[in-house]
Amino acid sequence: MSKILLLGSGELGKELVIAAQRLGQYTIAVDSYQNAPAMQVAQEFEVINMLDGNALDALVEKHKPDFIVPEIEAIRTERFYEYEKQGYTVIPSAKAANFTMNRKAIRDLAAKELGLRTAAYRYATSAKSLQAAVAQIGMPCVVKPLMSSSGKGQSTIKTEADIQKAWDYSQEGSRGDVAEVIVEAFIDFNYEITLLTVTQRNGETLFCPPIGHRQERGDYQESWQPASMESAHLKTAQDMAAKVTEALGGAGIWGVEFFVGDDGVYFSELSPRPHDTGMVTLANTQNFNEFELHLRAVLGLPIAEITQERIGASAVILAKGHSDNPTFSNIGTIAAAPKTDFRLFGKPTSRPYRRMAVVLTYDVLNGDVLAVTQRAKELAAKVEVKL
Ligand SMILES: Nc1ncnc2c1ncn2[C@@H]1O[C@H](COP(=O)(O)OP(=O)(O)O)[C@@H](O)[C@H]1O
Ligand SMILES: [Mg+2]
Repeated sequence: MSKILLLGSGELGKELVIAAQRLGQYTIAVDSYQNAPAMQVAQEFEVINMLDGNALDALVEKHKPDFIVPEIEAIRTERFYEYEKQGYTVIPSAKAANFTMNRKAIRDLAAKELGLRTAAYRYATSAKSLQAAVAQIGMPCVVKPLMSSSGKGQSTIKTEADIQKAWDYSQEGSRGDVAEVIVEAFIDFNYEITLLTVTQRNGETLFCPPIGHRQERGDYQESWQPASMESAHLKTAQDMAAKVTEALGGAGIWGVEFFVGDDGVYFSELSPRPHDTGMVTLANTQNFNEFELHLRAVLGLPIAEITQERIGASAVILAKGHSDNPTFSNIGTIAAAPKTDFRLFGKPTSRPYRRMAVVLTYDVLNGDVLAVTQRAKELAAKVEVKL
């Protein structure tokens, strides 16, 4: 039995812990608040501020885990290098976790070092330098804090008048002590995908069938699998995913994000862990869902192949407001629907737009992905989070 220290205890962590329990592993779920989803199913839990390096050191020292498995970005990841030196295994690797928590590190690696095609980009450290950067990139363009996720602090500049607003907004949404932003050319893509990629300690890199998704306010609303795409574009995406995951190193599942436009495939960003859009795999669209795949890669268990077993979709259920006792209405409607499943995350509190649950729909392999996605969306809209 291995001891897994899970840093972050949301709905993705919860599914990972459930997968770990099924294989008889020992898990310690960590987050900044009590009763987080993954804590509800782990053997132990810890409540700490994971951006506090000393608190993180103390935790690792206390539990001496076999695997340190990050579930979120907001962690003092610089400390991971030291843990690796001490002989700990960080998933997928200290470098992967550290590079991906800062958009600059990962973007420069992808675009400059590896030569992957990305949107044109610049950096800015003030409203004034943002103006200069926008002049170089052109409008429309997208501004994002270097340290942020889920669309926080992110906005699109369409006219000169948006520049100051975009700067101010970026500073509200930035996490940590970094004021810098990235400015990217707006890619007028036809669709975007997540390519779940699995790197193994002793084995080849594997790819899941591509997942399509739709974003609103920087958070995904629906995802579906497979996303239909030209095989040449898929091959390009797989090549890019193989390159970037190899450069970052280690074993685990990665959510590699791409935009696909008339002129081809752009690398956007990646998560070195299960991806929220990958919750579609909870509809048993594959022989192993993304959490089972991650766990196998973490434990060093070989994965012979990844196969698509049926088509599926996921649609999120968001809270409308604050509550200390959120409950759901109309779950019976979803439970009664054929070829449908759902997850209620068990989050102890809600706030506006917080993801509380997900609806999963599926059909046979040659079914209609669009119809399955529409069904997930319509069913999710029937549920309300009661405050
Ligand atoms: N350069 C861009 N052009 C067009 N759309 C973009 C661009 N950058 C981001 N987006 C949209 O915003 C979403 C969130 O951006 P992303 O860089 O993935 O940030 P996060 O780390 O918050 O997920 C993307 O999935 C995409 O829909
Ligand atoms: Mg993203």
